[in-house]
Amino acid sequence: MNRRNFITFFGVGWIASSLPVALAACSSEKSSSQTTSKDWQPVGTTGELDKTGQLLAKNSPIGPVLVVGTSKTSHLNAVDPTCPHQGCTVEWQSDAKTFLCPCHGSEFAIDGKLKKGPAKEPLKIYAAKVEGNSVLVMSHNS
Ligand code: FES
Repeated sequence: MNRRNFITFFGVGWIASSLPVALAACSSEKSSSQTTSKDWQPVGTTGELDKTGQLLAKNSPIGPVLVVGTSKTSHLNAVDPTCPHQGCTVEWQSDAKTFLCPCHGSEFAIDGKLKKGPAKEPLKIYAAKVEGNSVLVMSHNS
């Protein structure tokens, strides 16, 4: 084997031996990101939720989330509190059982449905649950 053949042989061998590792790295990255988007994400603790009956996590892994309820509530409600009108953060009014936008007065029901404009779209909603001391949410469309 001359020098050129040796380099060619070595080069091909190196690529062939590296390929499965490179493929495995790519596929594990892909599957872990898919798993992450489908997983329940912790957004806070039951202690934080129970203090006021709501929990705002502005920087959760799936974006801003506002959870309404307590750890004793059988069904927690969770929405993306970003107003679909112009992007202000809506606030939960427990007396009126309404999400109210402080910017232009849009109102949304606890399930995110639009009650009053100027917004024209509902709030995006999430599934929410308590597990141990953690409040978890999951995007419906992931
Ligand atoms: S930004 Fe919410 S009503 Fe305008």
